Amino acid sequence: MNIWVIMGTRPEAIKMAPVVQALQDVSDEVQVKVCLTAQHRELLDQVIRSFHLPVEYDLNIMTPGQTLVEITSRVLERLSKLFSENKPDAILVHGDTTTTLSAGLAGYYQQIPIGHVEAGLRTYDKYHPFPEEMNRRLVDAMSDFLYAPTEQAKKNLLSENIEEHKIVVTGNTGIDALLYIAQKPYTFENSLLEALGKDRRLIVLTAHRRESFGKPMDEIFHAVSDLIDKNDDIEILFPVHPNPNVTASVKQYLQGKERVHLVSPMEYVPFVHILKKCYLILTDSGGIQEEAPSLGKPVLVLRDVTERPEAVQAGTALLVGPHYERILDTAQKLLDDKEMYQNMANKINPYGDGKSGKRIAEHLLKTLSR
Ligand code: UD1
Ligand code: UDP
Repeated sequence: MNIWVIMGTRPEAIKMAPVVQALQDVSDEVQVKVCLTAQHRELLDQVIRSFHLPVEYDLNIMTPGQTLVEITSRVLERLSKLFSENKPDAILVHGDTTTTLSAGLAGYYQQIPIGHVEAGLRTYDKYHPFPEEMNRRLVDAMSDFLYAPTEQAKKNLLSENIEEHKIVVTGNTGIDALLYIAQKPYTFENSLLEALGKDRRLIVLTAHRRESFGKPMDEIFHAVSDLIDKNDDIEILFPVHPNPNVTASVKQYLQGKERVHLVSPMEYVPFVHILKKCYLILTDSGGIQEEAPSLGKPVLVLRDVTERPEAVQAGTALLVGPHYERILDTAQKLLDDKEMYQNMANKINPYGDGKSGKRIAEHLLKTLSR
C-alpha cells in the first residue's frame, strides 16, 4: 500500500510529521512516501531536519515573491506527472495552503483517493483568511477521507452535506507534535533565547497573513511599537516570516527598537520552548492559535475572524483584528489586570490529545485494506 504524504509549507510539515510517523508504525503493509512541493524552501527544510522526515520527492518550486497562480500551476503540473508515473494508492494533504489545493486537484484528476488532514475548518468568509478559506473548502469537496480535528469541524462538514461516513474526528495532529516536544527538557544553545523572559515579561509576536499585507500589518506593528514604549518591563520576540511583504512593514515600525528582538524564523523545537516561557502571544497564525491554549498561554489573535473558534469560546484567545487600538488596549489590559490574565491563562486542550496521527493511520489502513 503506497501512501503519499504531500507537504509544501512549514505548518504542513509540522502537522504531517506525526502522521508520517504513525503510518510508518502502523503496519509493514504501508509504504509512506513524503513528497515536498517546497512551496516554502528554508522554512520547510527546517522542519524536515527537526523531525528527520524521509523525503522521497522534492518539486522545489519556490521562487521569491511567488504568486498564487505560479504556485498553483507549478504544483499541479509537476505533481500530476509524478502521480501518473507512480500511481499512489492514496494521497494525504494537510490544511489550507496552495500546495494543499493543487495536490488535491492533481489527485482528483487522476481519481486517486484523497485524505484531508485538518478538514472542516471554516470562517465562511471567503477572503479571510485569503486564499486559505477557499483552499480548504475546495479540498474538502474533493476528498474521500476527511480527518476533522474537532467536533465543530465535523459539524461544518455535515452542514455542507458531506457524507458522515467520510468524516473522522481525530484531534489536531499539530498537538501530537507539540505535546511530544513540550514535555522534553530543553536547554537553549542561543544565549539571547536562554535569557528571554527572565528579567522582563516576554511577548511572542508572529504575523504573515496575505490579507493583512499593507495597512493592517502596519497597524499591528505600530501597536506593538507603542506597547513597548509604554511598558519598560516587557520585551518582544518576533521571528520574522521571510515573505518580502512582511519584512517591508517590519522595517518601518520595529527595526532597531529597544527590547524588540527580530530574529529569523526559528526551528520548531526551540520555538515551542519559547512559547512555554512567554507571558503572552500576539499572532495571526493558525497553528499558534492551537498551540497557545495547550500551553496555557493567553493569545491575542490579530484577525477579525478565525476558523479555530474553540479557544475563543474557552476564553484563552481573544480576537483583536489587525487594529491598532484594539491590539494596544487589550494587550495593555493583559499586562495590568492580573485577574483578566489568570482567567485567560487556562491550560485547555480543545484541539487534541496527542494521538491524532495514530487515529488517521489506523483509519487509512483499515479503509484501504477493504
Ligand atoms: C503560506 C500559506 C499560508 C501559511 C503560511 C505558513 C498559501 C497561499 N499560504 O503563506 O496559508 O499560513 O505559508 O507560513 O499557501 N519565503 C522564503 N522562504 C521560505 C518561505 C517563504 O523566502 O522558506 C518567501 C518567498 O519570497 C515566497 C514568499 O515568502 O515567495 C511567500 O511564500 P508563500 O508560500 O507564497 O506564502 P506564505 O505567505 O508563506
Ligand atoms: N513556528 C516555528 N518557528 C517560528 C514560528 C512558528 O516553528 O519561528 C511554528 C509554530 O509553532 C506552528 C507553525 O510554525 O507550529 C505555524 O506556522 P505558520 O504560523 O507559519 O503558519 P499557519 O499555522 O498560520 O498556517
